Formats: sequence, C-alpha cells, structure tokens
Amino acid sequence: MRVSVFSTKPYDRQFLEAANADGGHDLRFLEMRLSPESAALAQGSKVVCAFVNDDCSRPVLEALAASGVRLLALRSAGFNHVDLAAARELGLTVARVPAYSPHAVAEHTVALILALNRNIHRAYNRVREGNFALEGLLGFDLQGKTVGVIGTGKIGEVLARILVGFGCTLLGHDIAPNPVCTDLGMDYVSRDEIFARSDILSLHCPLTPETHHLIGASTLRRLKPGVMLINTSRGAVIDTRAVIRGLKEGVIGSLGLDVYEEEADLFFEDLSAKVIQDDVFARLLTFPNVLITGHQAFFTREALTQIARTTLANITAYGQSGRAVHEISVEKIAPHR
Ligand code: NAI
Repeated sequence: MRVSVFSTKPYDRQFLEAANADGGHDLRFLEMRLSPESAALAQGSKVVCAFVNDDCSRPVLEALAASGVRLLALRSAGFNHVDLAAARELGLTVARVPAYSPHAVAEHTVALILALNRNIHRAYNRVREGNFALEGLLGFDLQGKTVGVIGTGKIGEVLARILVGFGCTLLGHDIAPNPVCTDLGMDYVSRDEIFARSDILSLHCPLTPETHHLIGASTLRRLKPGVMLINTSRGAVIDTRAVIRGLKEGVIGSLGLDVYEEEADLFFEDLSAKVIQDDVFARLLTFPNVLITGHQAFFTREALTQIARTTLANITAYGQSGRAVHEISVEKIAPHR
C-alpha cells in the first residue's frame, strides 16, 4: 500500500526501509509535520504514518479522509494528539505501537535521575573548563530513598525493576495497580500520599483529561519539599508555569524533563541558530537544577527497530484484513475524551 510518512527524519527512513526490505509497501517519506497545510500531500495514499507532534486534529483528519486515507498508523505508543472521536466518525482506523521498548524510556528516566542527582551536566562543563571544584555538585545516595511512580504500566514496571536494584523504596499510584510491581515490593498509595512521601517522583501515565496538569499549582504544596520531579510521559502532565514557581520557591529540588507542554514548536529540530521564542521554556533552561532532553527517551536502536516493524505489521494487517494489529479501541478510550 502507498504510505505517506510525515515528520520523517533520516533515522525514521533508515529503520522503516529496513523493516520494508521486501518492498511490501510504497513508502513516501515527507519531512514536514502533518498539519492542515500539509495534509493534502497524502493525496493518493491509503495510509498516513504520523509521529507524536503531528497534528491529528479533526480538520486534518477530515482532509485526510476526504483524500482517500483509511488508516492512520502512529509510530508512537501515546495517542493523546489524535482526535479519536473524529476518526471514528470519519471511518478512519487508528493504529499505534503499544510497546516497543519500555526499557528505552525507563533507562532514560534513570539517566535523568542519576545525572540530575550527581550534577553530571554541570560537572561535564566544569571539567572541560579546568574547574575541578566540587561545591554545588553534592548529590544523595539513591539507596534508601523513596521513589514514587505514577503510572505503573509497561514503562513504570521496568523502572520499578531497575530501582529495586538501587535499593529504593517504591511507592506507586495507578488507576489499575500492576501485580508485578506489587511483587517487586511497590506499595500502592493515594495521590496525596505519593506526593507527600516521594523523594523522587516519576511520571509514567498517559496524558488524559484526568492527568492533564497532574502536577500544578494546587499540588505543589502537597509535594515533599525538595522533591526531584521527572517527566518522561507527556509534557502537559505537568503545568510548566506552576513548576517554575515551585523551582523558584525551592519546593521542587530538581526537575528532569524529556517532554514539554509546547514541545511541538521546538523538539526534533536543530534550532541552535535561532532565537527561542518560548519564554517559559527559556526560563526553564536558566535553572542549574533542571535537565531537559528533547523527547529522546524512546531513541534506541532496539526501540526504532520495533517501532518500524510494528508500524509495518499494522499496515500489512490492515491491507490484508481491514484491521490493524494494534488498533486503538475508540469505545475504550471515549470516556477519557
Ligand atoms: P501503559 O499503558 O503500559 O501504562 C500507563 C499506566 O498509566 C497504566 O498502568 C494506566 O493504568 C496508568 N494510568 C492511566 N491513567 C492514570 C491516572 N489517571 N492516574 C494514574 N495512572 C494512570 O503505557 P507505557 O507504555 O508505560 O507508557 C506510558 C506513557 O509514557 C505513554 O502514555 C506515553 O505518553 C509516554 N511515553 C513517552 C516516551 C518518550 O519517548 N518520552 C516513549 C513512549 C511512551
């Protein structure tokens, strides 16, 4: 089938072409993001392949459906950017890659925790400048610290396994507790309790109306003072402006982010020669105790291989049977939206 692949980077092309080595599909790679303006470029394709910052709102889906697109194949696990109700009305099937490597994201989460705690980002610069002073680099032992994991699905579970190795005490909060995490010694508690007791709080829930700004102005004063907050889920799970206030007041001791509420205008592009127009993001960059990566937690060879294979498996199955392997069940999701 002909597939228009939006937001293509060289690495997307490399892994998708490898997964399509038998030439089963006619992949048309487009560098631009999917948007109301670019949707027309999918003309002639039955399938559109999209990534996390592509615009999959109603007007875009309407344009795609009108031009003959039948399947929206996401190269991501998260689908908060897709108007599923509109997709259903338009008869568009939406498929995703539910699990490609929870290890990639969980390991990146640990990288953020370790780097922030031991100030690796600052030490790197100091040493390069011949500054070997240790003041300002003081960290803490992870052993014995309480880590709160909000969202204990595939990624939260892998994170819990790793943290057991560090000797951390695990708290969990989830609308559907995971028995594997319980077996690992995780104690499931209320939202208030996980906020109050966690030395490190790591977010691994999807972005839904219930989790939007889960960490916001009203939650700041319920957090353990000096907490390390880590978000590798979706940017809008935290209210960035409120978190900036928390950092200024010292309520939040440090912040590690792989995702950002307004990342669509920034991430995945080289903007190093441009002036950043987003003042909130620019403020975040000024804190010594904030470490940001640009949505790279998924970015391992194993994950990209799996994303490409599952995406093509979704497309092949849809071509053969009219059903993708990993369709998003609109009925299941509808109450959230
Ligand atoms: P998953 O579906 O296996 O786990 C999500 C967990 O969150 C489930 O256990 C679910 O019950 C729980 N949950 C849902 N609503 C909740 C609520 N209101 N309060 C507490 N818990 C709630 O998903 P997985 O694979 O672990 O991924 C988690 C999230 O990580 C994804 O939704 C996605 O947004 C993000 N992600 C980020 C990546 C990155 O590169 N930074 C890559 C892949 C995923």
